[in-house]
Amino acid sequence: MPLHRVCAFSELPVGGVKRIGEPPIAVFNVEGKLFAISDICTHAEASLSEGMVEGETVHCPLHGAIFDLCTGEALTPPAVDPVQTFPVVVQENEIYVEVDAVDE
Ligand code: FES
Repeated sequence: MPLHRVCAFSELPVGGVKRIGEPPIAVFNVEGKLFAISDICTHAEASLSEGMVEGETVHCPLHGAIFDLCTGEALTPPAVDPVQTFPVVVQENEIYVEVDAVDE
């Protein structure tokens, strides 16, 4: 699968999040672990990059559904369907996500 550049590693510090592309992908740095998920909540399309991160989960900012950043699973209602997850690759201090197609 093609690699899509997110940013330099230094631009995504611990606790940070980057939103890239269209359809948007949110890339989180949680305690040095990188996670990439679809940015769009499966309940009513809020932006999960604006949500609160707790452990390896993110709380949707609109109605509070919690998603597992690792698996994309919706852990609590009102969301039911998972969000898509993407592999994250770090090469030469650059962060990439593996994704079929995403616009800049
Ligand atoms: S839009 Fe995310 S829980 Fe409703």
